[in-house]
Amino acid sequence: MRRVLSVASECVPLLKTGGLADVVGALPKALKEHGWGMRVLLPAYPGLIQKLTKPVVVWKDADLFGGKAQILSGQVEGLDMLLLDAPHLYDRAGGPYSGPGGDYPDNPERFAALSWAAKEIAAEGLSDGWRPEIVHCHDWQAGFAPAFMRYAGIEDVKSIVTVHNIAFQGNAPVDRLQALKLPPSGFTSDELEYWGNLSSLKAGLVMADAITTVSPTYANELMRGEYGLGLEGVIQKRANDLHGILNGVDTEIWSPETDPHIENFSAKALADKAKNRAALIKEFKLGPVPGPLAVVISRLTTQKGLDLIPSLLTEFTWRGGGLIVLGSGDPQIEMALLHEADLNPTRIGMRIGYDDPLSHRLFAGGDAVLVPSRFEPCGLTQMYGLRYGTIPVVAATGGLNDTVIDANPAAVAAGVATGVVFHPTDGLAFAQGLRRLITLYEDKKAWRQLQRNGMKAELDWGRSSAAYADLYESLAP
Ligand code: ADP
Ligand code: GLC
Repeated sequence: MRRVLSVASECVPLLKTGGLADVVGALPKALKEHGWGMRVLLPAYPGLIQKLTKPVVVWKDADLFGGKAQILSGQVEGLDMLLLDAPHLYDRAGGPYSGPGGDYPDNPERFAALSWAAKEIAAEGLSDGWRPEIVHCHDWQAGFAPAFMRYAGIEDVKSIVTVHNIAFQGNAPVDRLQALKLPPSGFTSDELEYWGNLSSLKAGLVMADAITTVSPTYANELMRGEYGLGLEGVIQKRANDLHGILNGVDTEIWSPETDPHIENFSAKALADKAKNRAALIKEFKLGPVPGPLAVVISRLTTQKGLDLIPSLLTEFTWRGGGLIVLGSGDPQIEMALLHEADLNPTRIGMRIGYDDPLSHRLFAGGDAVLVPSRFEPCGLTQMYGLRYGTIPVVAATGGLNDTVIDANPAAVAAGVATGVVFHPTDGLAFAQGLRRLITLYEDKKAWRQLQRNGMKAELDWGRSSAAYADLYESLAP
């Protein structure tokens, strides 16, 4: 097996706050068949070490950013994990990035430490003899790893940075430079300096041997100011090394035929999907929903465009639609949606929080999934919708644009449409998209066709894991 180290802050099944975790957990399984053995380096957040089978210490440091640290190697559900055990950095009662008081003030150090450990593994290997050929870094949390590797003069191990969301840039004040073990000579606009401060993501983008992002459309968008969010110039300079590789779906977890959380169904036995719909309506105490029952499973943020929904609900429900939202985030969006659910409790359901089994029941029981994002690097929920015969209504941006085929007349005539794609992301276009959804729903034959097309779409990791393997091989022949 060839050797690649994946460096990330989340990984299914150990810890998840968003799509990053799904992707980091799915990649090692998908890469195996291309001859790449991937180990995942993750912070040992509370309770994770106990989940490893037969953990073995493979690396130690007496002082990693202010305290003792070690790496434990072990397996979780077939994944080869490396947990960075550094209680002074990761043993916290809150989430991975923030506690009750907001973001942890030492986040730059917490994730610089993760990146430093990755560099050490690249330099020396682990005590069990494993040394990677490639270090694959995810998002800002691993952004300093390529910089540390460069400053340590490591040339025989190559690095890749994958941008899952450029809105999170890992900014830190410049006075942390030395605390973060970065050389003052690197503080130039070509290397570490970012608008007078530091950004771990910029460091990674500048120093990595290659950059990938999670869809071809987002790769293109990232070079423009409205999407690059200050980093577009850095991306433009590296356009030759930038690859848009679409995320896939982990079909072991997301398949309506086998999903343990739902009444199973398939494209052939679509009638059984209705049992899931009926169960949802009962669970959320809705009344009859004659039109499409839409679902949203999301972080409730302006990125996701969910602030647009409340003002569209009067018409949507009047036309027969219903809505169930599962998510949490921006208090204003939460309040506005709760208010709508109060006003119309037989058509609108709302659950604030994070609930994985419920998310499966929603994908299974919904008729449509709404993803009206202002930007969306890839997006996974529209793909889960496709697999479960739940028609996606999406904005034409990023990976949404690359995974859903709009039911325009040409696509319907060619028999390839899978959903409703609207543009631009505003209330006018979204309202029009919802009207088109209702018209499609009323035409049972057209609707079944959309469902079947989506359910047979190729959404697994096959093609994309091959693209990653090719990239690794081009860097480390
Ligand atoms: P992002 O990573 O930007 O949040 P993605 O669509 O890539 O968006 O991934 C979101 C992932 O998190 C999906 O697997 C989705 O099902 C899951 N998810 C989002 N919100 C919730 C929630 N409230 N409860 C359960 N799962 C959720
Ligand atoms: C980020 C993006 C999302 C993407 C996910 C996994 O969270 O916001 O679009 O699907 O990463 O790559």
